[in-house]
Amino acid sequence: MPHTTRRRILLTGAGAVVILGGGWGLTRDPKQARAPWRQASQGFGDPRLDVLAYAILAPNPHNMQPWRIRLDGDDRFTVFCDLTRTLPHTDPPNRQITIGFGCFLELVRQAAAEKGYRAEIEYFPEGEPFPLLDQRPIAHVKLVEDAPAREPLFSEVLSRRTNRLAFDTAQTPSADDLTAITDAALSSALADTSSNGVLVEDLRNLTLNAWRVEWALPHTRRESIDVMRIGKRENNENPYGLSLAGAPIDALKAVGLLTPEKLDQAGATAYQQSLSFYEKACETATAYAWIKTAANSRRDQLETGRSWVRMQLAATARNVAFHPLSQALQEFAEMREHYESIHKLLGADNGETVQMLVRLGYAGAIPPAPREPLTAKLIEG
Ligand SMILES: Cc1cc2nc3c(=O)[nH]c(=O)nc-3n(C[C@H](O)[C@H](O)[C@H](O)COP(=O)(O)O)c2cc1C
Repeated sequence: MPHTTRRRILLTGAGAVVILGGGWGLTRDPKQARAPWRQASQGFGDPRLDVLAYAILAPNPHNMQPWRIRLDGDDRFTVFCDLTRTLPHTDPPNRQITIGFGCFLELVRQAAAEKGYRAEIEYFPEGEPFPLLDQRPIAHVKLVEDAPAREPLFSEVLSRRTNRLAFDTAQTPSADDLTAITDAALSSALADTSSNGVLVEDLRNLTLNAWRVEWALPHTRRESIDVMRIGKRENNENPYGLSLAGAPIDALKAVGLLTPEKLDQAGATAYQQSLSFYEKACETATAYAWIKTAANSRRDQLETGRSWVRMQLAATARNVAFHPLSQALQEFAEMREHYESIHKLLGADNGETVQMLVRLGYAGAIPPAPREPLTAKLIEG
């Protein structure tokens, strides 16, 4: 393998891979795994499916796509969590997974409005599941034919990406951009942004250290490695989890340099590149956005998700790259010190919870993340 090809490979700690340049790489693109992005606008003959085809493109932790949908009657559906798709090590209380459902439900609402339907969404109709999500529904949704106001942010849904590339440190989002991103949040979220030098520096250090904890601990590291899809075939066969794709990935895999075992082996190139890729991400933040909530109910978590995707769509509209850095917010013992520091740094007092931390900046374009087809997400009643 030519040296230059190797150098163009960047593994993210969270598992995605970005290939910079290299035309021949296109033939190794897992096109099938990205098909739901191309199919969302095609029309499925049932408004619920037309809406859900957009909702499945929602951001969600580790791209686990835990949604299971049961169509009820002619105009309703129920959303459940696939309990085999949670992340017990990095997300012990299912907080992040619940936020992902909030992102999903906001896209339900936006897509419905676009098609002339008001989505009546009832959160946790059989009660809020604690301490963990269970088999009870996350939401009931009814589509009512109406003339709801269309959502301007909807035009960004197909362009939205989680961008893990190193950002251009010479460019900082403007005050105007930051205001637009904060303003997109729902009033239930305590959303804020900053490009203040001292705070940015502190957050860079904190997110970097928190990432090193997550990658150094065998069980949290393996939780990512276990769902990494390495190369075209694995991405197409299992289009959920963390995607590593492109010709150099297939080449490294073929010679045995990029395997789950190498990713898990301290000192191996794959292990080290994953670590440093994400370190670079942390180090190149030029601004941050975050959401705090006064309480931490399941409802708060869903509403956080709704604000989250709205803020990301607002960033997309302004060409601002958006990359969540959730490590310091994770609720396991070894992260405790960073969890407390981030709450202190962002002024989360009186029991407030920091639900989201995202770095903002400017970076090159990346392809959409894999998605399972809509049909794979439907369950029988
Ligand atoms: C609650 C939540 C937490 C997330 N945390 C991280 C994170 O810490 N690091 C990261 O790279 N991506 C994070 N993501 C982004 C997901 O990995 C991403 O949405 C998923 O891989 C699908 O990719 P897409 O957003 O480009 O469609 C998070 C997403 C959500 C909803």
